[in-house]
Amino acid sequence: MSDLRQDIEQMVRQALRELAPELAAPGTTPAPGLAPTGARPATSTPSYGQRVPLVAANWKMNQLSAPARAFIAELEAKDRQGVQTVLCAPHILLPVLAAARRQTGLQLGAQNFHPEAAGAFTGEHSLAMLADAGVEAVIIGHSERRNLFGETDALLARKLAFALTHGFLPIFCIGENLAERRDGATFRVLRNQLVAGLAGLAPPFPEPDRVVFAYEPIWAIGTGLNATAVQAQEAAAFVRERLAEKFSWAWAQKVRVLYGGSANEKNAAELAAQPDIDGFLVGNASLKAPTFSSIIEQTAACKRRP
Ligand code: PGA
Repeated sequence: MSDLRQDIEQMVRQALRELAPELAAPGTTPAPGLAPTGARPATSTPSYGQRVPLVAANWKMNQLSAPARAFIAELEAKDRQGVQTVLCAPHILLPVLAAARRQTGLQLGAQNFHPEAAGAFTGEHSLAMLADAGVEAVIIGHSERRNLFGETDALLARKLAFALTHGFLPIFCIGENLAERRDGATFRVLRNQLVAGLAGLAPPFPEPDRVVFAYEPIWAIGTGLNATAVQAQEAAAFVRERLAEKFSWAWAQKVRVLYGGSANEKNAAELAAQPDIDGFLVGNASLKAPTFSSIIEQTAACKRRP
C-alpha cells in the first residue's frame, strides 16, 4: 500500500515538474501569475537564469578575410563572459576565422548548408565540410533564405532535423512580414512556421540547450526599425508557449529564444531586459567589433542575476 502511495506521489511530482516547476520544488511559493491549479503561468515566468544568453552575428554576404581577422582579434579582447557567442560568416571565411581565433569559446556558425551527406549538389556545402572547417552552429529558416532563395517549410524542417542529428546547434528563424503584422496575422504566421519547421522532430527530442529559436520580424530586418520591447517580448513568449506544446513546459523554459531585426548597441539593453528574450541574432550591427561586443556586454549585464 505504501509503495503504491509512493509511486503515485512520484508520478504527481513528475507531472508537476513538467507543468509548473515552481510548484514541484518543495518549500517554494508559486510565482506570480501561476494559476493555483498548477496550470502553466498566464505569462512566462522570468526564470531566464537557467538559460545562457546567446548573441549570434549574421554577417550575410559581407566581410573579406583581412577585416574578418581583425574583427576576431578585436572581439576576443572584449569581455564576453556569460554569453555564448556565435559568428555566422560566409562559408569562404569560416576556415579563415577558425585559423584566426584563439578562443574555442568563440563559436562559428554557417548561414546555409545542404541536408544530404554528399553528392551532386553543385554549389552546396555539407555539414561534414562545415564541421571540418570548425563550424558548430547553423542558421535555418532566415527570411532571406525563405524569400530570396525559395526555401520551403518542408526543406527547413528537413534541415532542422538533419542539423540536430549531426550535432550542430541550429538557430531556427521565424517572423512575419509587414502586411501580416498589419493584418493581425503575426501569431498565426509564427505558429505555422514553428509547426511546419518542427514537423520532422520526433522523440527523443533534442536537449533544450542544443537548439535555438530566433524571432525575426521581416519588417525589422535591415530597416533600422526594430520591434519594440513589448512586441519582441510578446512574440518571444508566444514562441516559448508553442514550444511548450510540442515539447513540454519545462523544456520550453530552458530553450533560448533570440530577437533579430535591427538589433543594435542602442536598443540591446531594453530588448535584452525582456524576460523571454535570451539574446540576439544581429545583422548590420555585427559587422563592426565595437558595436557587436557592446551588444554582447549589454546582454550579459541584463541577464546577470544578482
Ligand atoms: P539586421 O539583420 O540586424 O541587419 O536587421 C538581422 C538578421 O537578418 O538576422
